[in-house]
Amino acid sequence: MFEQVSAAPPDPILGLTEAFKTDPRPEKVNLGVGVFQDDEGRTPVLKAVKAAEAALLAAEKTKNYFPIAGEPEFGRKVEEFLFGEAAVPGARTAQTPGGTGALRVAADFFAEISQSRRVWLSDPTWPNHRGVFGAPGLAIQPYPYYDAARRSVNAGALADALDKVPAGDAVVLHLCCHNPTGADLDAEQWKTVSEIAARRGWLPIFDAAYIGFGDSLEADRAPLRPFLDAGVEMLIATSFSKNFGLYRERAGALTLVAPARAADAVFSRIKRVIRVLYSNPPAHGGQIVQTILSDALLRQVWRDELNGMCARIHAMRARFAEGMARRAPDRDFAFIRAQRGMFSFSGISAAHVAWLRSERAIYMTGDGRINVAGLTPQNLDYVCDAVAAALRTERGG
Ligand code: LMR
Repeated sequence: MFEQVSAAPPDPILGLTEAFKTDPRPEKVNLGVGVFQDDEGRTPVLKAVKAAEAALLAAEKTKNYFPIAGEPEFGRKVEEFLFGEAAVPGARTAQTPGGTGALRVAADFFAEISQSRRVWLSDPTWPNHRGVFGAPGLAIQPYPYYDAARRSVNAGALADALDKVPAGDAVVLHLCCHNPTGADLDAEQWKTVSEIAARRGWLPIFDAAYIGFGDSLEADRAPLRPFLDAGVEMLIATSFSKNFGLYRERAGALTLVAPARAADAVFSRIKRVIRVLYSNPPAHGGQIVQTILSDALLRQVWRDELNGMCARIHAMRARFAEGMARRAPDRDFAFIRAQRGMFSFSGISAAHVAWLRSERAIYMTGDGRINVAGLTPQNLDYVCDAVAAALRTERGG
């Protein structure tokens, strides 16, 4: 049987990291996968995480199974993280293996309860969205999002398209730091989208993987507010990979917001999906998040570290934009400053991406997305010189 099986193509993001690791060139730079790096190019364990792990190790008494949805206190802390102090009566949260696990639970749950079995994804979007939502057999449709010429969200086309999505379909929305473009909606545009969702009756599924990397925890979660205020039902897939630096621990959550009287019944269906997929969540990553969010001192340490990561991303954006303005004054890179989170659509063509990889050992995804957090004071000039050289190859110089 296995003789007949052909190989799968490499993953466009994680496959790049594998290729990067085997590249022997010492000057190599990885601007591919969305992983935060500090000024030295490291991805350290946060201080708050180390302290929480020490406390957990000392206090741990059992490795018995978790409940299907994880511990209720974890859920309460995640809801506070998303919505602030005031409880949302119809909210229920399951601990999941990472944000991807949360999205997959959402996809399987939606496939089970939906009549249309159709989900809308932004054009472009994180490539794995198609795999995750396609896995349970959902039909996938694109909605317009990015205006490549203006390097920003095409808010008019977006609103027009979402106003035509049929009731009962699902729409995946990036809560902040849109992946791959780094272009987000503003508060007014979010309000419009929430009004459309309320009027049309489609289900928003928020992908919340970068809270705190755009501006701040409060600013980045703010787009949820108009949806809550309008009484829109929704699902929120939260990842703690980036904002707690817990990548390999697979810490995430799926939050349901339903009418309060229906929430337990709906959540029971989500729990059934989880039971079939992985039975109950791994404990460690979620417990770290819960420990930090439950302790005022640790929370403050973590907030400071999160703000530090966010500030470094902003600083690298500014320095890259400056570096490119000096080296390629006829090309516009100023938009890099205005985009948010780790990613920017650099506008670098697929041919130049390939050139940068083969000639300069600089790795980025084929669509020209760069992880700004992969830039460091040490590699910045090297990267800017290389990008300028790549652009000159286009002009034949
Ligand atoms: C990315 O887009 O680089 C991250 O979300 C990592 C991943 O799993 O693809």
